[in-house]
Amino acid sequence: MGCVLRSMGLILIVAALFVAACGRPATPTSDLAWAYPQGESTTFGASPGPGPVSMPGSALTLSRQQLDAATGPVDWFPQDHPPPPAAVGGPVLGGATPCAECHGYNGAGYPGSADLAGLPAAYIIAQVNAFRTGQRRSALATQPNTAEMIKLARAVSPSALAAAASYFAALPRPHWLRVVESATAPRTRPDKYGWLDPAPGGGTEAVGDRIVEVSDDLPRSFLGNDHVMLTDYVPPGAVARGRRIVETGGGAGAPCSGCHGQGLAGLGPAPPIAGRPAGYVARTLWDLRTGARNDPGAAPMQAVARGLTAADVRDASAYLASLKP
Ligand code: HEC
Ligand code: HEC
Repeated sequence: MGCVLRSMGLILIVAALFVAACGRPATPTSDLAWAYPQGESTTFGASPGPGPVSMPGSALTLSRQQLDAATGPVDWFPQDHPPPPAAVGGPVLGGATPCAECHGYNGAGYPGSADLAGLPAAYIIAQVNAFRTGQRRSALATQPNTAEMIKLARAVSPSALAAAASYFAALPRPHWLRVVESATAPRTRPDKYGWLDPAPGGGTEAVGDRIVEVSDDLPRSFLGNDHVMLTDYVPPGAVARGRRIVETGGGAGAPCSGCHGQGLAGLGPAPPIAGRPAGYVARTLWDLRTGARNDPGAAPMQAVARGLTAADVRDASAYLASLKP
């Protein structure tokens, strides 16, 4: 009996030492935690103020009441794009949120979402269907931004999805994005929507082994200004290292242009990957690597992603973001 108690004590001590040595238990995303921001804040760290609100380059000025009464995301720059279908700009029947709310009327995307402009319509439809069926998930089950897209995919009707897909597919590929190699970035904290908000009090912090993707003007992004640039702060040397990975294909030895085509502008089932936000690209590469993204067309890309380390994913994402689409 004493011996059993002693060995149980030993097991507890060993377990305690293990937890102390390893810290929090590893999750499928521990090695790339920065690409899966999760926090508590619901404010975006930004208040739109009492209004009226206007945007540089836009002819619109809206009062607070007009903003609150809008039936969809405000279209600040209608000259940018053809008239959007209801699925994109609203109002949408059946409770689906209009796509522009999270992807912008120009399809450039906001922090935490993805750019859609110029992606093939069939690819857009296939991916939304995969979110709906559960074949495309996040490697971190609780990731809030992916959960939003899954919710939308379950709510949107097939005809609304088809209209939205043709709209985004016909838009020019945007590049509201710049990559800055730097040892430091603005100090941020993750919010409840999977964005990085400026930390209260401002200041800077080390980039370390992360990419820090932020809106250059969070209050305006929050109000649906899809001209606000995203900045990717990446570790010094990441762009050159990423270029080598893209050219050689990493561990799988399959150069990316072999499938994604010249200029990485997309070819057949492989969508464009040049000039896309690093946060999205890193997250989806990791989802492919772990198999959480397992849509019907994913297999060839899962094989490539499994040959990439977390550092490779970061550097390749930095390089791809730096390219003109
Ligand atoms: C409430 C926010 C929200 C709305 C509304 C929304 N999306 Fe998304 N969407 C997202 C987020 C966030 C992601 C990225 C998910 C991730 O990184 O895991 C995403 C990703 C996608 C992707 C994957 C892109 C790729 O390159 O594979 C497609 C396609 C897409 N959305 C299409 C749409 C369409 C079409 C609509 C409108 C019918 C729409 N979305 C509406 C938030 C939204
Ligand atoms: C063997 C062909 C092949 C090679 C080589 C390849 N890809 Fe892909 N890639 C694909 C296909 C096909 C898809 C679409 C997957 C799907 O439908 O889910 C894809 C999707 C992607 C996506 C997701 C795009 C989105 O819109 O979500 C990224 C990012 C990506 N590839 C990056 C890369 C990088 C970086 C390399 C080189 C290291 C690479 N690919 C090499 C075939 C390939």
